[in-house]
Amino acid sequence: MKPRHFLTLLDLSSVELEQLLRRAIDLKAMHRRGETYTPLRQRTMAMIFEKSSTRTRVSFEAGMSHLGGSSLFLSPRDTHLGRGEPIEDTARVMSRMVDVIVIRAFEHDMVVRFAEFSLVPVVNALTDRYHPCQLLADIQTYIEARGPIKGRTAAWIGDGNNVCHSWINAARRFGFNLNIATPAGYEPDSEVVAAAGSCVTLTHDPKLAASGADIVVTDTWASMGQESEKTQRLKDFSGYMVDSRLMHLAHKDAVFMHCLPAYRGYEVDPAVIDGPQSVVWDEAENRLHAQKALLEFLLAPAGSGQKR
Ligand code: CP
Ligand code: NVA
Repeated sequence: MKPRHFLTLLDLSSVELEQLLRRAIDLKAMHRRGETYTPLRQRTMAMIFEKSSTRTRVSFEAGMSHLGGSSLFLSPRDTHLGRGEPIEDTARVMSRMVDVIVIRAFEHDMVVRFAEFSLVPVVNALTDRYHPCQLLADIQTYIEARGPIKGRTAAWIGDGNNVCHSWINAARRFGFNLNIATPAGYEPDSEVVAAAGSCVTLTHDPKLAASGADIVVTDTWASMGQESEKTQRLKDFSGYMVDSRLMHLAHKDAVFMHCLPAYRGYEVDPAVIDGPQSVVWDEAENRLHAQKALLEFLLAPAGSGQKR
C-alpha cells in the first residue's frame, strides 16, 4: 500500500485536518500535564535539510522524542545527495531503514520525487513553493486564541511566497477568506490562486487587504535562497510593513501572525510583533504540538493498535 505523504495541505481532507488540529490541542494539554505518551517507540524519523532551520528542526526532533521515537538529522554534507546520488535511489534506500522522512528543500519537485519512491511517509518541512507544517500551527493558534476559523478573514501582507501559498491552501481546506496584498510582480503563483476560487482576493493595497481582517499575517521579504535579491526587494516592498496603523484597520480582536524568523523594522514594526495582538510565540510553540499530531496521524493512526 502507498504511504500517506504530507507535501501540501491538500494531501489531507478538511475533516482530517480538523481532526488533526483537535488532536494537536489534546497533545498540548497532555504535554502540559506532564503525561508520558510514547506511541512511536522504536520508530525513527530521518530529516534531510537543504536549508537552515530553528523552529522546524527543533520542534520535529523534540516532538519525536516526546512520542518515544528517535531522529537523525542530515545536512547536505552528510549524505550522497549533495554529491549527485539520485533522489530516487536515496528515497528507496532510506525508506527501507526509517519510518518517516522529513525534508526541507529548495525545489518542491525534490520532495515530490522523493515521495514517489519512498516506502514510508514523506513530510514537506518547507520548499520554495509550500510550507504546510507552518499552517498546521498557525490554524491551531487561531482556533485556540479566537475559536473557529471558518468564515473568518485573513490578510496576507507582503511577498506571495511559499508560506503565502500554504495560506491559500489553508483558506481552501478550512473555509476562510484570504486577502493578499503584494507589490506588483510579487503575487502568489496564479495556478495556486486560481485553484482556490473565490476565497482568495489579490490587491496591491495593504490597507484594503487589512480592513476588517481577523488575522494579519506577514513573512520576510527575502526568503532563503533570495539573498542576492535583498537590496531590490527592500525597495520594492517599501510601504508593506505591518505597523500599528495597518493593525487599526483590522478587526479590533485581530491577531498578528508571523512564521518567524522576523525582521523587525522591515516586514513588521516592533510595536506590532512585540505588542498585545501578536500571537507569534504561541504560533512557534504550536509547531511542536501540531507536528506531533501529524507524526501520530502518519505513523500510529487511532484504531491501528499501534498507540501506547
Ligand atoms: N517558521 C519556520 O519554519 O522556521 P524555521 O526556518 O526556523 O524552521
Ligand atoms: N518564506 C521564508 C519562510 C521561513 C520559515 C523562507 O522560505 O525563507
